[in-house]
Amino acid sequence: MSIKASLISISAYVPDLLLSNQDLERMVETSDEWIVKRTGIKTRYIANKNESTSDLGYKAAKLAIKRSNLNVDDIDCIICATISPDHLCMPSTACKIAHKLGIYGITAFDISAACTGFIYLLEIAKSFIQSGLKKNILIIGAEKLSSIVNWNDRSTCILFGDGAGAAVISASKDENFIIDTHTASDGSKNDLLITPGCGSANPANLENLSQNLQFIHMKGNEVFRIAVNTLSKDVEDILKKNQISSKDIDLFIPHQANLRIINAVKQKLNLKDEQCIITVDRFGNTSSASIPMAMNFAYENNKLKNGDLMLLDAFGGGFTWGSALLKFGGK
Ligand code: COA
Repeated sequence: MSIKASLISISAYVPDLLLSNQDLERMVETSDEWIVKRTGIKTRYIANKNESTSDLGYKAAKLAIKRSNLNVDDIDCIICATISPDHLCMPSTACKIAHKLGIYGITAFDISAACTGFIYLLEIAKSFIQSGLKKNILIIGAEKLSSIVNWNDRSTCILFGDGAGAAVISASKDENFIIDTHTASDGSKNDLLITPGCGSANPANLENLSQNLQFIHMKGNEVFRIAVNTLSKDVEDILKKNQISSKDIDLFIPHQANLRIINAVKQKLNLKDEQCIITVDRFGNTSSASIPMAMNFAYENNKLKNGDLMLLDAFGGGFTWGSALLKFGGK
């Protein structure tokens, strides 16, 4: 029997500081009513100034290993998806998390796929395990987006939050495995959702910093339209390819960017409320951390049980997008 990859544990870490829409009303010209109506977001959590992305990721990772019933020594690969790494170039956030966990000598690296990060992580982990290269992979989506948000730009600062989610993917003969993943990209519209500065295109210098190029810039309504169309097709394709009906999905756990995007896909698939996990209202958009945070929310609220069939989808900067079908292998 061929080796399968199973998601055997899920966890998350949410920082302490809650930032409500009412708090934002005091910071920029906006209103709770506008934010809730356009996005569904009511609150988000913000890391403190001494917490970096690897601190958030470490806390989620530690709990994911504990819940997997493995020892830290059993982990043979750590991959972190993030667009707000501790450092722009090096070291990777994955290496720093490995050090905080006391794990040395194994493969550790970051990936950059924006909000689709967790789907990309699942695909990479599945391939590494099915090829026999690795046995127990720790995957982490971690973001301190508050460090790359322009707090004077009302069109973006209301959207994002900080947090981390982690999972252990293990080689398994169990029937609860990652059934399929699909990842994709289109770089032709990269300027619609971009942090233009501080890379090699616009290096960190006073002129570029004074133009706020280090922050997230987004043409929200264009991104919205493309995200809805792309995701609706992507989830239909993965269900069709695997001959699974949306009625058979126990939990739809989408990337949590905007309640209207989630509802559009939900309607397209005729999913019922009880099939959908919504956390965008409390956490906002935490990019690569949003799906594992939502999955952990379902788990901790007894909505996700061993063997449950999950459908995941995500869309983000790049553009990147993707979907996944998997049965929960955790206890
Ligand atoms: N409070 C009040 N008004 C605001 C505002 C805020 N926080 N932000 C923008 N506005 C105003 C705009 O200035 C504009 O005013 P105008 O008509 O006078 O010019 C108006 O609201 C409409 O702006 P628009 O950007 O067209 O709103 P929208 O309905 O598209 O909603 C987003 C904006 C960002 C919520 C929405 O576009 C979105 O969610 N986009 C996708 C985000 C996403 O999913 N990203 C992908 C993955 S991360």
